[in-house]
Amino acid sequence: MTASLRNRMMLVVGLFTGLASSMMYSASANEPAKKEGEAAAAASSIVQPFAPSMLAVVNNRKVTADDFEDPAKCKTCHPRQWKGWMGSMHSVSFKDPVFQAEWAIGEKATNGALLNYCGGCHTAVGVVSGTVKFDPSLGKHGGFTAPKVAAEGVSCEVCHTSVRSTHAQSVTGDPGNASLALNPGETKYGPLLKSVSGYHETQYSELHTKAEFCGSCHNIFHPFNQFPVEHTYDEWKMSAYAQAGIPCQDCHMVPVDTAVRVANEMKRAKDLADHGLGGKAATKAKVERSIVHDHGFVGGNAVIAPALGVEGAEEHREEALKRLQNVAELDMDLRTGKGGAQELRVKVINARAGHHLPTSLTFIRQIWLEVLVTDDQGRVLLSSGKLGADNRIDADAMVFGNKSVDKNGKRTVDPWEIAGFEEMTTIPPKGYRVAMYAFKLPADAKSFKVEARLNYMSYDQAVADKLLGKGAVKVPMVEMKALTRAFGPDLKAIEAPQKVSRR
Ligand code: HEC
Ligand code: HEC
Ligand code: HEC
Ligand code: HEC
Ligand code: HEC
Repeated sequence: MTASLRNRMMLVVGLFTGLASSMMYSASANEPAKKEGEAAAAASSIVQPFAPSMLAVVNNRKVTADDFEDPAKCKTCHPRQWKGWMGSMHSVSFKDPVFQAEWAIGEKATNGALLNYCGGCHTAVGVVSGTVKFDPSLGKHGGFTAPKVAAEGVSCEVCHTSVRSTHAQSVTGDPGNASLALNPGETKYGPLLKSVSGYHETQYSELHTKAEFCGSCHNIFHPFNQFPVEHTYDEWKMSAYAQAGIPCQDCHMVPVDTAVRVANEMKRAKDLADHGLGGKAATKAKVERSIVHDHGFVGGNAVIAPALGVEGAEEHREEALKRLQNVAELDMDLRTGKGGAQELRVKVINARAGHHLPTSLTFIRQIWLEVLVTDDQGRVLLSSGKLGADNRIDADAMVFGNKSVDKNGKRTVDPWEIAGFEEMTTIPPKGYRVAMYAFKLPADAKSFKVEARLNYMSYDQAVADKLLGKGAVKVPMVEMKALTRAFGPDLKAIEAPQKVSRR
């Protein structure tokens, strides 16, 4: 793992050296090479003023928190976008107690080296204005303070004052580590052509319609060793969705029902028949737009926004559950293996996520199979993946995720320690993984039943206990998909008797 990483790093370094020398060559043909060097130095000093974050302000301008507007201002004319955003993880990305606790532990462990790094994505306004501060006396582990406008996390202004990506300067050339340049002020940048507002200037921005925009924060490289700790954007880039031109926005900025159609039909949201997404982008807008985007950014987290009680959180929770319950498909088959044991194969298909399942915090999020085989006399022939009394998954369950380790190969889930993954079992987009089980069918069994369930938990109970205090929350489990089939002793499926609906 580390060897292949080193090879790749060397490849990248080699590529840059090659590029630099060819630039020098062409430069020396026209103008002195010295000038080229100076320009490069100036460019790099502009690009990473908040290193290790890739965040920047246009022209390296000094800004204050007051240069950014409060989302409540936008609400007057954009109530729909505001409500969606308020219930989303973006509005709570700074206040999120799980994040705050982990950040505080990291801030202490690294002697303050993570303030701009973690803050760059979770509170960009706090970082560029220099107003986010660590206070070790807060909470269980310490906490962070910021003025209200910075505490709004990934706010309207963070996204709509973004003018360009700074990703050309990143290690792999891919977006990541908040590779955005902000230009706060009169002008709001967005996807609309010929947009007119009496309150602010508007400017069309192609960046906002592309996955690269989201990738700025949804690709996370380690601040110092550059290991790709989270790579949702890169997973998408390698997927059939990217090939079909379907960006993140087409699944995460539309209702979940529409996203399901996008994945089934492999079409852009705007190309779906009768998509019904049209409307006004602002209450008093003069024109109808063919699509007005949902700002709920629904993922799998159904816990934090409701726990913080923000407006719109209940709708967000419902949509998150729907999203989790519509992403995977299950299938199963049976055969007699060597030695007469019955072999069960359960197939888990990632049918509708534009990236791996799970994605992002693949070392913390838990997706696993729960399998139960019982015979006609009620005997349990196989049981795997059941939650224990401590709300934790049994050790031999099939869990889909990445196992993260530090530089010495020791397990860790702390992002500032992660140097590699020693085992990767996430499920690729439109791909599947097969889990295998064996059990022994008693000779007197006339039939048996296999129940398979795919479950989701935002965090392991032990992680929640460590961050929030033991017993502070019981992490809820979400059943994503279930499949039950009955079989005869010949291992042929028995048709389930037709249920007559009385309603
Ligand atoms: C995480 C980034 C992000 C945040 C936060 C965000 N937006 Fe957007 N917004 C976008 C993107 C991206 C688009 C364009 C989507 C596309 O065209 O594919 C957009 C589109 C828009 C549009 C154009 C009309 C439409 O809906 O398509 C308006 C108006 C808008 N946003 C206002 C707001 C307001 C007001 C807030 C805060 C309440 C907000 N946005 C928060 C990313 C964001
Ligand atoms: C490049 C942007 C970026 C950086 C840098 C970053 N994060 Fe995040 N963080 C994210 C995104 C995006 C998510 C949401 C992923 C998801 O939910 O699938 C997230 C989610 C989290 C969560 C999970 C929160 C929850 O309630 O589920 C924790 C904890 C967290 N980050 C901690 C940190 C810490 C600590 C640092 C610094 C060491 C950090 N992050 C740096 C982008 C970033
Ligand atoms: C007084 C009403 C009003 C307020 C307040 C307001 N807007 Fe707008 N905004 C509009 C109108 C009207 C449009 C044009 C809609 C159209 O062209 O369809 C618009 C368009 C936009 C667009 C699309 C720009 C483009 O070219 O794609 C964005 C982004 C946006 N607003 C963001 C914001 C943000 C962020 C705030 C808060 C800081 C805000 N607006 C506050 C009325 C307002
Ligand atoms: C400025 C950084 C930033 C940008 C740009 C950004 N995000 Fe996020 N996003 C975050 C952070 C940070 C979180 C996690 C908040 C937390 O868990 O505390 C998050 C959370 C999410 C979640 C919720 C994850 C969950 O577990 O439910 C989704 C979905 C999401 N973002 C999608 C998008 C999409 C789509 C775009 C592009 C239109 C985008 N984001 C742009 C920083 C960003
Ligand atoms: C084809 C639809 C589709 C596309 C395209 C897509 N996603 Fe997702 N996304 C999903 C589904 C379904 C889920 C829920 C399953 C899960 O949590 O992994 C999800 C979950 C997420 C989560 C939450 C993961 C978690 O459980 O913590 C984040 C963050 C996210 N997506 C970001 C992105 C970003 C960024 C892009 C573009 C680079 C993107 N998505 C593209 C469908 C899509």
